[in-house]
Amino acid sequence: MVSRVIPVDPFDLVIFGATGDLARRKILPGLYRRFWAGQMPPVARVIGAARSDMTEAAFRDLARAAIEDYVGARKRDAETIAAFLDRLSYVAVDATGEAGWTDLTAALRPDVVPAFYFSVGPALFGPIAERLHAHHMVRPESRVVVEKPFGHDLSSAQELNAVLAASFEEHQIYRIDHYLGKETVQNLMAVRFANVLFEPLWNAQYVDHVQITVAESVGVEGRGGYYDKSGAMRDMVQNHLMQLLCLIAMEPPSRFEPDSVRDEKLKVIRALDPVSPGDIVRGQYRAGPEGGSYLDAAGDRGSRTESFVALKVHVSNWRWAGTPFYLRTGKRLRARVSEIAVVFKDPPHFIFDDHENRRGNVLSIRLQPDEGMTMRVTIKEPGPGGMRLVEVPLDMSFAEALGEDAADMPDAYARLIMDVIRGNQTLFMRGDEVEAAWAWTDPVIAGWAARGDRPKPYDQGSSGPEDALMLMHRDGRRWREIEG
Ligand code: BG6
Repeated sequence: MVSRVIPVDPFDLVIFGATGDLARRKILPGLYRRFWAGQMPPVARVIGAARSDMTEAAFRDLARAAIEDYVGARKRDAETIAAFLDRLSYVAVDATGEAGWTDLTAALRPDVVPAFYFSVGPALFGPIAERLHAHHMVRPESRVVVEKPFGHDLSSAQELNAVLAASFEEHQIYRIDHYLGKETVQNLMAVRFANVLFEPLWNAQYVDHVQITVAESVGVEGRGGYYDKSGAMRDMVQNHLMQLLCLIAMEPPSRFEPDSVRDEKLKVIRALDPVSPGDIVRGQYRAGPEGGSYLDAAGDRGSRTESFVALKVHVSNWRWAGTPFYLRTGKRLRARVSEIAVVFKDPPHFIFDDHENRRGNVLSIRLQPDEGMTMRVTIKEPGPGGMRLVEVPLDMSFAEALGEDAADMPDAYARLIMDVIRGNQTLFMRGDEVEAAWAWTDPVIAGWAARGDRPKPYDQGSSGPEDALMLMHRDGRRWREIEG
């Protein structure tokens, strides 16, 4: 299979917060990979903007170090790195003052796509947007990219939407949820909507339940300050898990175009029932051989913030009434695994004697590691000895299907940034979607505070607190193993 890389239009991408962690870990390495692959046109330019008074050479050194740290050796050669660094420049700007804005205006070319990446805290969205506007840098074809956290609750998200709307139209705003840029997430849509096989079974009549697991083996080290004000519900469920749930549960859009897809996702969020307190389990990891406890990382011994959450969710519509969705996510769990499992019902009548090996079909959609999809089916065990049943995986792993190309697959950030330049918002969240997700999340969090709930402690390297297992057991179901 030969990958087709179509270069995007020439652009000027301004990265606000260009010396920050996200720029170094994701944005600059991602852009470099696309340059290496021939997708970023040679005339495109990346303009770093941050408060520090840095020379262009120093910014290029920072980018070189980022590429060396985060891009695999196979894609790093001196010539390509030098050509990429040549596309980089730097302007020192004060997001809340006047310094640097005239220089930035002068750095932009009138005949290329202008894109502004706000890789800064949400408090700076407004001041930066206002200054871009005041300095006439916002044109009809300008795009602005914003990062999560997009608000802390519904009212702060509404404020951010209002602040952006004062300078940009909705079609210019790209709210990133990097989970939507993952290869498997898009493949999920292809599998659902480009095949006739799954859709007739994709409903409460045939699907017993759905499990969405986003498990991480890392803790919150170094991010304790941010994380403790957020917790797993805000940091992961309100955005990443919610987006995965939407893609599984949504109706087929009439077209694969941004608003058709986002309209259907929004309907799912609006169809979510409020979660009852008995359907949620929160946890905090204890200290273990791997490291200190969550409370150590949070720096607050009395913290009630959760590093783990598991919950049962109902989508109240004709397709899903009666099929629960179980979601869980947490830090310091057994392995780093992101997986969606669609667990089908048993056949209505079983004709074989081998009840021991009676298993339902499960479609597992794996985001990481080993991206791909597997369908568990039951067949006859080969050979003589009667009708013995055995389960086998029907493997739809992309890595194998793509052969060597799999290694060159763009990562989520690189793919999403190229979509920004292409002007394609399909994989970005619309303002009303984000608000609807907060409107569902807020009462859950408010409920914990009102009841004074404390998260349950759990061991590092485990699957979370015991109560999370019970959430499923009491329904006669069980979580899939967290296996890396
Ligand atoms: C981020 C969260 O959005 O996603 C982090 O803030 C989390 O807490 C990360 O670790 C997980 O992303 P990925 O791509 O590594 O699964």
